[in-house]
Amino acid sequence: MKEVVLGIETSCDECSIALVKKIGSTELKVLSNITYSQIDLHRPYGGVVPEIASRNHLETIHFVLDRALRESGVCWNAIDAISVTNRPGLVGALLVGVSAAKAMAYAHQKELYAIHHLEGHSLSVFLDQKLPEIKGPLLVGVISGGHTNLYVVEGNPIHWKKDWFQTNLIASSLDDAAGEAFDKTAKLMGLPYPGGVWIDENARKGDPKAFHFPRALKEKSNLNFSFSGLKTAVALEVQKIREKRQLEERRNDLCASVQEAIVDVLLRKISFAMDRYRCQTLVLVGGVAANSRLRERLASEFRSTDIFSPLPQYCTDNGAMIAAVPLLRSIAPLKQEELLTLNAFSSGSH
Ligand code: KG4
Ligand code: ZN
Repeated sequence: MKEVVLGIETSCDECSIALVKKIGSTELKVLSNITYSQIDLHRPYGGVVPEIASRNHLETIHFVLDRALRESGVCWNAIDAISVTNRPGLVGALLVGVSAAKAMAYAHQKELYAIHHLEGHSLSVFLDQKLPEIKGPLLVGVISGGHTNLYVVEGNPIHWKKDWFQTNLIASSLDDAAGEAFDKTAKLMGLPYPGGVWIDENARKGDPKAFHFPRALKEKSNLNFSFSGLKTAVALEVQKIREKRQLEERRNDLCASVQEAIVDVLLRKISFAMDRYRCQTLVLVGGVAANSRLRERLASEFRSTDIFSPLPQYCTDNGAMIAAVPLLRSIAPLKQEELLTLNAFSSGSH
């Protein structure tokens, strides 16, 4: 039985390596989780530059690994397996983690697991927190910079089907992801990348009713999301405000109103999905799950629902969630002959 797994995540702009130990059937203790965030490097460009991301992963991964091993107090003998994100993401960035994982698995004779990034996010809720036994059906929302996906699954991840992140998908965004909507509208308002955190921060000082932005696909029959209309509406409003030279004074109201529109849509669709699939438990993961207004409204408007979210440090990309997958799911490691041929894929459908 696997007890300690080393997880590697390099799919985008975070180079993260963690050591995670299983201490109960769905309880995981993070022994170390070291993340080098490249946000400052990409900020001048207003978004992630893939070439910069992969080059920087190459430069930092050794240091991140050294520190993760040192802080965990675990030696190679005590590590049972290595798991690495190999899809979806920026291929050049993913390849750095995949190559490091292959080399380590080969040199230290460890089992190697190739992990879907969203499967990692979904299990991040079990890191460093003991959850009660979850009775299915369970609604899982992965709300991040790249995805706005809803899934209906069993309560315990050990029972989730092999390709559940494809077969159990019940809704997704037709265009921009929720995190992307935060980031793009923040950029329009002159806020730094990644904008979600800044909108969250500035919105606390603003009026969510100051501007009315569109909430697309309102009907109950459609569980999918769409955020591109919101982006266009914000662009037009910001242009008018800029012309009046009022951006500084109206920014907090803009942030609060944009945030309210995104949170409204997320909550409405989650509520429709919970009704339709008779779910009593909700797990919300991904960067946007850290949003304070979303958490506040969930707590007040979903009182009869059991809601679980990861600890804030495990909402955004991290190695611990990737290590969690082989510990909680019954999945097979790569075969010996696949070990050195493992590839990375930009899409999640591999
Ligand atoms: O899960 P994540 O680290 O990366 C992806 O897999 O995409 O999510 C990053 C996204 C970014 O779009 C960022 O703006 C958003 O999560 N985000 C937030 C907050 N913190 C991060 N959005 C809204 N409010 C936040 N507090
Ligand atoms: Zn992510």
